[in-house]
Amino acid sequence: MIHSICCIGAGYVGGPTMAVIADRCPQIQVTVVDLNARRISAWNDDDLSRLPIYEPGLAEVVGRCRGRNLHFSTEVEGAIASADLVFLSVNTPTKTKGAGAGQASDLRWIETSARQVAANASGHTIVVEKSTLPVRTAETVKTILAAGPAGKSFAVLSNPEFLAEGTAITDLENPDRVLIGGEDASAIEALASIYGHWVPAERILRTNIWSSELSKLTANAFLAQRISSINSIAALCEATGADVIEVGRAIGTDSRLGSKFLKAGPGFGGSCFQKDILNLVYLCGHYGLHEVARYWQQVVELNAWQKHRIASKVVASLFGTVTGKRLAILGFAFKADTNDTREAPAITICRDLLEEGAQLAIYDPKVDGEQIRQALGVPPSAGAPAPSDDGLWQLAADPLTAASGADAIVILTEWKTFSSLDWSALSAVMRQPAWVFDARRIADAGAARAAGLKVWQVGLG
Ligand code: UDX
Ligand code: ADP
Repeated sequence: MIHSICCIGAGYVGGPTMAVIADRCPQIQVTVVDLNARRISAWNDDDLSRLPIYEPGLAEVVGRCRGRNLHFSTEVEGAIASADLVFLSVNTPTKTKGAGAGQASDLRWIETSARQVAANASGHTIVVEKSTLPVRTAETVKTILAAGPAGKSFAVLSNPEFLAEGTAITDLENPDRVLIGGEDASAIEALASIYGHWVPAERILRTNIWSSELSKLTANAFLAQRISSINSIAALCEATGADVIEVGRAIGTDSRLGSKFLKAGPGFGGSCFQKDILNLVYLCGHYGLHEVARYWQQVVELNAWQKHRIASKVVASLFGTVTGKRLAILGFAFKADTNDTREAPAITICRDLLEEGAQLAIYDPKVDGEQIRQALGVPPSAGAPAPSDDGLWQLAADPLTAASGADAIVILTEWKTFSSLDWSALSAVMRQPAWVFDARRIADAGAARAAGLKVWQVGLG
């Protein structure tokens, strides 16, 4: 029986996942720890609208459990010592230097947290990999745990998280499946019994540990491939007069294909897809499977191409130059209903436009200026830009402010509010002839045209 859980890493995965476990298992004490004291104090903020992660429904769950059986703390060692089960939910970004740079995952945070578990655990502890990891990482974790002080025992499981940001709480409360990989039958059943509080037994899948790790990479690679596939067809639709929404609907009714994940857009973003495919590419290369590596690499390349294609489309439509022109960017998060900007297509598209000399006015309902600064790697311009200034950006408080004096509005995130923009008010403050570039097919194109704007939509032209 598990009485006490520690989760190392209070991020987009650890935070929401532990909140839902605490909500569904009131008899289990759940402590989420993080080295980042600012993040932990934001999780403990009395004002639930200031949690570090925006996710619909999250504040309500945290509000119900925090202080009861859900705790956020920087006391990593103590929380490990009193836990029967430890989730490793730390960041695993793509390596930026050394062997495998640009492909392999950087496992330094996994290694550090495994060492912390080895040093501080007491008695028998189940260690669960929650972060998405390359195949055979469990072996590394086991080796580190085995090298720790004597008198402790460990069971290592893989339990990858399939939640998508923006729908994390509903995904966690009603998962398609929970995957548990491992060899130690009693540890597997202990973890399964936690999920058993709310997940139907038939949705809890048990596999060997390598299958579990590889399944996560494969699921993300297949999903990302679907997006690159539909984005490639979007370009063809624009060239031929077909409409990618109609094509998506037509193929989505084929039960073998299914209707989800067929929305063309500015390219996929988020912390998982690109990283996981690159992991797969690295793994294939390592095993000498070079054709397989190239096959998956192409999914990433098509995604990069889609992002650059959208920036080029904007420039080409604005008479081939955006130097010194003001452009309103609506949406910076990698998808709607999250404040996460990791790998957001907006980053590449904005950088391309800045490189072309544009003055960007960026508005996102949940992303603040500091986050945009970090993502773009450039500070915002101070004060109002002069007409001769080029290659700079500023945060805008709302779409109307962003559009004021702009030659174009570029929609990059499918925030629901962008479906009901007041196009006549926006058009009235823009410099004519003015454009709308809708990379998400969310805008009311008819209303925008009626307001005198020229409109481009992804997958339609
Ligand atoms: C993904 C997986 O869905 C999830 O199972 C895994 O655990 C983590 O990675 P996430 O990155 O949070 O989740 O969001 P997801 O909804 O998958 O979207 C990823 C990207 O694809 C976003 O940029 C989104 O805008 C884009 N996308 C998605 C499309 O462009 N078209 C679609 O039809 C669907
Ligand atoms: P994810 O999307 O996978 O949840 P995040 O980057 O949002 O990734 O969260 C990972 C968190 O893990 C970060 O807040 C980071 O500070 C934390 N972290 C990394 N290593 C450790 C560690 N050794 N101990 C505690 N927290 C850690």
